[in-house]
Amino acid sequence: MKELSIEQTVNKVGEIVELYGWVDTKRDHKKIVFIDLRDRTGTVQVVGGEEFKALSEEDVVYIKGLVKKRPDKMANPKIKTGSIEVEAKELKILNKTKTLPLPVNGDGHDIDEEVRLKYRYLDIRRSRMYKNLALRSKFINLIRQYLFGKDFLEIETPILSETTPEGARDFIVPSRLQLGKFYALPQSPQQYKQLLMIGGVEKYFQIARCFRDEDPRADRAYGEFTQLDLEMSFVEREDVMKLAENLFIEVYEKLKVPIKQKSFPVFTYAEAIKRFGVDKFDLRTEEDKKNNVQAFAWVVDFPFFEKTTEGGWTFTHNPFSAPKPEFMKDLLEKKNIGNILTTQYDLVCNGYEVGGGSIRNHTPEGLKAVFEIMGLDEAEINLKFGHMIEALGYGAPPHGGIAPGIDRLLTCITGETSIREVIAMPMTSGGRTAIMKAPSVVKEEKLKELGIKAILKS
Ligand code: AMO
Repeated sequence: MKELSIEQTVNKVGEIVELYGWVDTKRDHKKIVFIDLRDRTGTVQVVGGEEFKALSEEDVVYIKGLVKKRPDKMANPKIKTGSIEVEAKELKILNKTKTLPLPVNGDGHDIDEEVRLKYRYLDIRRSRMYKNLALRSKFINLIRQYLFGKDFLEIETPILSETTPEGARDFIVPSRLQLGKFYALPQSPQQYKQLLMIGGVEKYFQIARCFRDEDPRADRAYGEFTQLDLEMSFVEREDVMKLAENLFIEVYEKLKVPIKQKSFPVFTYAEAIKRFGVDKFDLRTEEDKKNNVQAFAWVVDFPFFEKTTEGGWTFTHNPFSAPKPEFMKDLLEKKNIGNILTTQYDLVCNGYEVGGGSIRNHTPEGLKAVFEIMGLDEAEINLKFGHMIEALGYGAPPHGGIAPGIDRLLTCITGETSIREVIAMPMTSGGRTAIMKAPSVVKEEKLKELGIKAILKS
């Protein structure tokens, strides 16, 4: 097993070490050949003889060698191992490479994204991508630690599921056992987390994959993305906001990422529109941007409903939200609909909407009134949401939660311009998976087994 990472060689002067990695660069000086040997932690200069001539960049090698201090004038202060070099005693080529279809030792920003995604397994060899993935892993670990410390349970909820309205189209999966019927992949675990509250869990979270068929943008991944989904019982709006705020303050402190204002400033939707013209605004100065300061803010008091083009009503954020307590009477009586404010809170950072949540309607009457205002008839409500309305009738505790978007938060922290830079294997903008060729054609027999006939083929 590989015992020593490349960055650790710097502490091994005078010792014989065994190193494993890739040939990052090669410089052939006739009798001696220099290579930079690379692993996930960095590169180190290795000096070899004639046998090194056979090496090509990106070959995978084992090298046994003596770590030597470089003369001061030969030291390279720009890299971690710049004060040393390894004098090779033994070389084994573990795997010869073909010529790579894209370079991996630059930052990769200038390479066509389709090519980068086709060869994502090579693209993530570049140190910028490794750093982003390592940061993502650490970020999620710190979130978990914080929430475990506050007695939350991490619980997985189904992926093959029933549709949950979050404003996007569903991905659907055919059922073999019930021909002609389909599962939907969840746009969020919204309904399941509420059912967990009814189940008495009280504090739930999940690093949850959400599936939405909506047009991709710089801040919107196509197909799937990841939320920190959480829900709590016996809370009010400010309790959930404070929990999320304290969580991020602690996590960002541990990551040494500065936050502009603690506590996060709170704006009503009306104030935000008046001051910034939008409800996702950027509070950073040019100086803040240079120093990677993260500017969080809350937006509250959104209208619950907005008019549809057909003249009816639809929800602005989340149909499962409760109105602010002073508007509950109006909701139940279906009066002053345009004036009803929701308990929804959006978390904004650097001009992105990075999270959203609310206190939920925990009575069957409240939730039913929302769907009635939206013009659904009794049969439709029962078909789509009967399970929720029934469940709320069995002693549902007051509850609320939030779902910050992990990918968007990481895009802000890293200062990357696209959300795909912080996702290991994102889809292309045309909705194709990285590397593998999904969506793909399915054999006739398979479709037949599912009771499906494809009538359109692209
Ligand atoms: P919402 O739909 O606002 O709320 O989603 C919450 C957060 O998820 C992130 N997000 C996305 N990130 C990347 N790509 C996407 N396509 C994408 N869509 C959403 C955003 C957003 O703020 N169930 C509710 C949450 C709740 O009320 O608890 C929900 O899903 O950062």
